[in-house]
Amino acid sequence: MNKNREFGYQAWLQPGPKLDFPGFQPAGEKGFAYDELVRGLHRIGCRDIDTMINLALCEDIGPQAYKITGSIDGITIRGGDERGLLYGVYGFLSRLRRGQTSFDIFDKPAASRRILNHWDNITGRIERGYSGKSLFFKDGQIGYDLERLKDYARLLASIGINEISFNNVNVCSESAKLITDYLPDTKRIAEIFRPFGIKIIVAIHFESPVLMGGLSTADPLDPDVAEWWAKTAANVYKEIPDLAGFVVKADSEFRAGPMSLGRTQADGANLIARAVKPHGGMCYWRCFVYNCMQDWRDTETDRPKAAYDYFYPLDGHFDDNVMLQIKHGPSDFQVREPNSPLLGAMEKTPQMLELQVTQEYTGQQKDLYALAVQWEEIFDHPITDIIATRDLIGDKIDAVVAVANAGDDSNWTGHLLAQANTYAFGRMAWDPSLTALQVIEEWAELTFANYPKAIRPIIEMVLESRGVYEKYNAPLGIGWMVNISHHYGPSVDGYEYMKWGTYHRADTKAIGVDRTTAGTGYTAQYHPYVQAMYENKETCPEEILLYFHRLPYDYKLRSGQTLLQYIYDTHFEGVEDVEGFIATWESLKEDLPEEAYTSVKERLQMQLANAKEWRDVVNSYFYRKTGIADAKGRKIYE
Ligand code: GCU
Repeated sequence: MNKNREFGYQAWLQPGPKLDFPGFQPAGEKGFAYDELVRGLHRIGCRDIDTMINLALCEDIGPQAYKITGSIDGITIRGGDERGLLYGVYGFLSRLRRGQTSFDIFDKPAASRRILNHWDNITGRIERGYSGKSLFFKDGQIGYDLERLKDYARLLASIGINEISFNNVNVCSESAKLITDYLPDTKRIAEIFRPFGIKIIVAIHFESPVLMGGLSTADPLDPDVAEWWAKTAANVYKEIPDLAGFVVKADSEFRAGPMSLGRTQADGANLIARAVKPHGGMCYWRCFVYNCMQDWRDTETDRPKAAYDYFYPLDGHFDDNVMLQIKHGPSDFQVREPNSPLLGAMEKTPQMLELQVTQEYTGQQKDLYALAVQWEEIFDHPITDIIATRDLIGDKIDAVVAVANAGDDSNWTGHLLAQANTYAFGRMAWDPSLTALQVIEEWAELTFANYPKAIRPIIEMVLESRGVYEKYNAPLGIGWMVNISHHYGPSVDGYEYMKWGTYHRADTKAIGVDRTTAGTGYTAQYHPYVQAMYENKETCPEEILLYFHRLPYDYKLRSGQTLLQYIYDTHFEGVEDVEGFIATWESLKEDLPEEAYTSVKERLQMQLANAKEWRDVVNSYFYRKTGIADAKGRKIYE
């Protein structure tokens, strides 16, 4: 077995030197949580029978919640339900592995649904996947390594994930059959994940009634279509009674949907919601709807406005088992974006916050990038003068979902340190008040428990990594300057004359799109407090200035630097910072096992090449546009 698999942030997957703390004797409520406790204690090396650990169910605590009390004289783990007990066991093992020996803890999740969407294709290839092949599909059918999939389920449950979809939201006609012909296979996946408290969601194809049902239309208002969905859902629920529901990408990026049939987004979502309603299921309806056939010469249309324009007027028209799945930013998982104005705007519609753990635009698990740092900012983002996004989690936003980053690579995530992102997602969806520092510390302490000297430098490096990546990427929130289609590496004008609605409109004098009320009017979609902040160049947070304003290259930033000089400086610094990462990593050579050391070092070298490419392409681009050299006289390629 590849040694990298030793490295999991699950303490109980990571055997190590025997802990000083004496061993334990589990007792009480028998069942899956009990078995997981026994297994976990064994894995982390507690073999002596000494302290009693009592497991108990205790409904008063509430669903999914747990309490851990006691110390060396005896410990009790109580769960509000079976899931709560399991989370209590994992919470206990994780703290024990990090050295805690006395407990008085009550913990419960903020969002009741913490979801991962896998974008796995039935071929085994993962869309935007950077960690090998699918854990669920092989060669055109469901296919998996059972032990590996159970490890994955444990890994996810240990960080509080309680729902997953495993087929791509871009559903192909074959994977559409997961709810018909392949239902027995879907059921098997549900059975593997069920003991871990994880329910299955299926991504469905909006045109299934035509593709599989032989109907002539998928029109949501057609009674035959509704009947097809109701029957199909009933069949699914007969086999998988606890299916969480269906997730739908419709009217999005060339996929058909209700609007292409002259109906509204609410008509489409309610159609699916009504089919699953009798069985307690949900319709997770994605709001990633925009015109992907824009003419770049059209300066009126502004893509970031789209989701709000389509969905906000429909507030109140969605059935109560519809949840709207909203990407955190109005663009598409860029390095930096403002939060979507749709989040928190709708009063009557339950919303989901959609994040991306897989590093599509953020380094593709070659470059180090701590998403926790970005998520902390997303949670901090104001909705009004007194409410932040974080405050809505558990209320209007009762589900946090992310696109998964794992595959069949031996270390799950391609880049060993990208596990920090999976870990952080689960922990921050559970408790959005956790800081990036806290979750990265937890992760590093669990992952490198047997290599204590490496822990602190790794924490520092990972925490810095988001800022470093941003330095050599597109400047000041403008986004998109990536290679079209695969989204890695620089191509400043790659998207500029395309149909995707993603323009920076740089010329020889200025760059950016004016999205204020004097421009495209995008800022007007926010609460007046947030609008005022973005509207004015002076109050707009500088790191996102170019998302909202069109500015000349000699615009003076608060530091006194010109915009152009800022671009040059950050791009030089980004490369130097990556060189710093490599030096830090090399200093840990003796403190880490060879395979982990070597694999991360290889990734860091790829990152250095990427950072240099970005620096040189971006700096040359702006030098050629402006003819203004770097004030510090550094080399810019002509
Ligand atoms: C991005 C990504 C696509 C994906 C889409 C989505 O555009 O590049 O691969 O299908 O998001 O969220 O549906």
